[in-house]
Amino acid sequence: MASQFDHDQHEFELDWNTDAIVERRNTYYAASQRAFVPYQKPLIFSKGQDNYLWDEKGNKYLDCLSQNLTISVGYNNPVVTREVIRQAQTLQHCTTMFFHPVPAHFAEELTRTMPAGEEWVVHLCNSGAEAIDMAILLARSYTGNNDIISLTNAYHGATFGAQSVTGISGFRHNIPQLGGVQFAPVPDQYRGIHGEGVEPYLNDLEGTIHYGTSGQLAGMIIEPVQGYGGIIPVPEGYISGARERIKAAGGLLIIDEVQSGMARTGNNFWAFQQHGIVPDMVVAAKGMGNGFPLAALIVKREIAETMATKFYFHTYGANPVNCAAGRAVLHVIEAHQLQQRAQQVGAALLAVLEDLQTRHQVIGAVRGRGMMMAVELVKDRGSREPDPETMIRLFEKTRECGLVASKSGAYRNVLRICPPLCTQMEDVSFFETAINRSFESL
Ligand SMILES: Cc1ncc(COP(=O)(O)O)c(C=O)c1O
Repeated sequence: MASQFDHDQHEFELDWNTDAIVERRNTYYAASQRAFVPYQKPLIFSKGQDNYLWDEKGNKYLDCLSQNLTISVGYNNPVVTREVIRQAQTLQHCTTMFFHPVPAHFAEELTRTMPAGEEWVVHLCNSGAEAIDMAILLARSYTGNNDIISLTNAYHGATFGAQSVTGISGFRHNIPQLGGVQFAPVPDQYRGIHGEGVEPYLNDLEGTIHYGTSGQLAGMIIEPVQGYGGIIPVPEGYISGARERIKAAGGLLIIDEVQSGMARTGNNFWAFQQHGIVPDMVVAAKGMGNGFPLAALIVKREIAETMATKFYFHTYGANPVNCAAGRAVLHVIEAHQLQQRAQQVGAALLAVLEDLQTRHQVIGAVRGRGMMMAVELVKDRGSREPDPETMIRLFEKTRECGLVASKSGAYRNVLRICPPLCTQMEDVSFFETAINRSFESL
């Protein structure tokens, strides 16, 4: 269709000069946006294809971070690109007060990924933190209770609400946080306060409920695999045990699948499915949009009905372009069996890391679920004292050797390896060579 602006062929200035990019960013970004920089020297990306990235000088990298777990089905995925362009060319936005089939189809398709036997509904929004805020609000509105429990070492987002349930000081600002939040110790099997086991942590949860709350809960929020906390899989038995205790206190179970969802952990589409429980609400984002800003709260209908008469609105929630991306992601994961691939390729990558651990004393632990893996560095395997200094050096080496990963964990001593789900078996040898060289050159 012709447009009145068709004649405008303005060419936008685009300066790829490294110094100019750095200078512009330093001059025009707010300090809050400048602060989050992983490497000593800036890394500038010019393009990506599938699970590979190129910097502005043409150097190629194997992506093991997926832009913080957002790129699920790969860069420049042709199905995503096609569906996004098709939607952008017809209607770029349609606010939720009007009706459009793309978000409606997407909501239906998303509910199909959830356990049968429940009536699931979806509230679409733009970011994981927005969906976390809504989950807290809804849990409080539905139950009529105020107290929320979260786990230490959790990350749930940057908004006031999401920050208040985040259990790592580096992500919390020195301001009054939302009240009514208590933390139970994370059942981290390597570094947790009780070491291995589940019962001691469930006893602590009971203590938190008994001593730290009114005894009547709005809910508990859990990442089945803590992400920024350093890839900490919650052990089997904990979530089901927590569910019983939370339910007994009148609360709901909120599962944060922002990092662990969308087939990433390989065995299941959602990581909570490994635990044999059905949550009351699930928060999804990141990999759901393959980089497009798309998030969702998936919730049982009966609970969601609490807000039937109250205005709650995100301007760009249910944007049809983002939802077109979301539909394409769901399709690609299923049609190309990326969940199975995450399981198989993830297992092969983990085997490389386990082998590495046999040769390098600095590796205290290696763990993973599908395409969520971690290598934890320690000064001494006996004391398990974290080694963030070696991590800084290792991290720079991984970049030099052609890998993009991330430093994470409360002590910044964990190398987080979370490649796109489309990573293939033939990429494993590239990874093996690069990670071996990185450790050998330390
Ligand atoms: C587990 C988890 N929950 C919630 C969030 C918040 O998502 P967003 O940054 O899209 O607001 C994040 C972001 O990293 C996350 O990792």
